[in-house]
Amino acid sequence: MHDPHQAFFDLLAAEWDLMFTAEDLELLSHIVDQLDVQPGHDVVDLGCGTGILFDMMRRKVGSDGSVTGVDFSLQMVLKAHRNFPFSNVTVVDGDVLALPFCDDSFDLGVAFAAFPHFSDKQLAVDEVHRVLKDGAKFYIIHLTSSKELSAIHHRIGGVVANDEIPPEDGLIRIFHNSKFTDVTIADHPGLYLATAITAK
Ligand SMILES: C[S@@+](CC[C@H](N)C(=O)[O-])C[C@H]1O[C@@H](n2cnc3c(N)ncnc32)[C@H](O)[C@@H]1O
Repeated sequence: MHDPHQAFFDLLAAEWDLMFTAEDLELLSHIVDQLDVQPGHDVVDLGCGTGILFDMMRRKVGSDGSVTGVDFSLQMVLKAHRNFPFSNVTVVDGDVLALPFCDDSFDLGVAFAAFPHFSDKQLAVDEVHRVLKDGAKFYIIHLTSSKELSAIHHRIGGVVANDEIPPEDGLIRIFHNSKFTDVTIADHPGLYLATAITAK
């Protein structure tokens, strides 16, 4: 299926890393410290872009674990490859709506600053559930509240103008439809963090 986000993000890839300030990176690193990432974990990063999470995650999972990024913007994927040529990091050019991985492949999933852009959120969450192992956690993270994020996307306009995080009851329904449990959502200025646990 053609998704105009692909071309949109391809155009942004070359300059993408310049968007993050030192403060963003520090904040992100504090958030990642609070996630349940364990040595040996196989982590999947959905809509990974240029791999902003890779270094933080790969240090936590160590040489017995792995970080796999997936993104359908080839330019983002190529940049991520160049940025993080580490043996425990893999980047795949693929669609989150049809993940190119076997069932029960990963111990943890994360979507940082990406979930609102997935064109079919139920299908995306179904796919994440499929590739995660029983008991694995899935995190949706943003460095803004859902309201702040919608305003930013509206200001940018174009293909992202209406990209938003579903309202809390809608997201909980999506998670439950996919058989995730224990959904928690923190949504306040400067942070959005949704957590759900895979049940099989
Ligand atoms: C705002 S960027 C965030 C990238 C990265 N997580 C970061 O924070 O730097 C959103 C990313 O999601 C990717 N994306 C959107 N829909 C996707 C889909 N269906 N499958 C794979 N990637 C997708 C885009 O190509 C883009 O790189």
